[in-house]
Amino acid sequence: MFTLLIATRNRHKVGEIQSILGDLHRYMTLADFPGAPEVVEDRNTFAGNAVKKAQELSRWLAAGQDRPEGRLLVLADDSGLEVDALNGAPGVYSARYAALESGGEGNSPDSENNARLLRELADIPTEHRTARFRCVIAAADAVDLEAETPTFDGACEGRIEFEPAGEGGFGYDPLFVPDGFEQSFAELGEETKNRLSHRARALEKLKPWLEARLG
Ligand code: IMP
Repeated sequence: MFTLLIATRNRHKVGEIQSILGDLHRYMTLADFPGAPEVVEDRNTFAGNAVKKAQELSRWLAAGQDRPEGRLLVLADDSGLEVDALNGAPGVYSARYAALESGGEGNSPDSENNARLLRELADIPTEHRTARFRCVIAAADAVDLEAETPTFDGACEGRIEFEPAGEGGFGYDPLFVPDGFEQSFAELGEETKNRLSHRARALEKLKPWLEARLG
């Protein structure tokens, strides 16, 4: 059995990750480690940020007193939205898209990020509003710090609507309609999203890698 430290405080992501990886593993999250350092996501690729976060946290765990016993991996994901008409923006800046414009610090509320995205796309017609969510998950070994840190990626293609719809999910979900559907991720509900999403697709690659190592 692995203990998997899911390096996020986003409860939507924790639920999605656990439901896909199943009950072969023991799960912990950053909520179990209140003293964990805040890792600055300053790389210009999703993979760069995911690897940085997974490795910094595994080094922190290995140096401390309360590292759980046994085989321990830190799973860190970095994800975001790429909009073709904006040359791939907001990309790695998805969480702080509105703040980048206003000069504010840190991440922005989802409603402000969505409002900026709609403003940027105001003159773009439906056929050019293509976009995708992308996710990269890095798995760092918190016992053998010399082990390689593999990455697993996934994407979900779709388009950006003209106004938000739906109450579910988080982030850009109310604006994103996945290919083959007419409703946003926020309307489609967790079960459907968890089948289609960028994170689901990355997790479907991570799952056999983990299981092959369970022996
Ligand atoms: P991070 O991976 O937590 O850094 O996420 C970056 C940002 O991308 C989030 O704050 C959201 O704005 C956006 N994002 C990532 N995944 C999703 C998703 O599944 N739905 C909606 N927005 C997402």
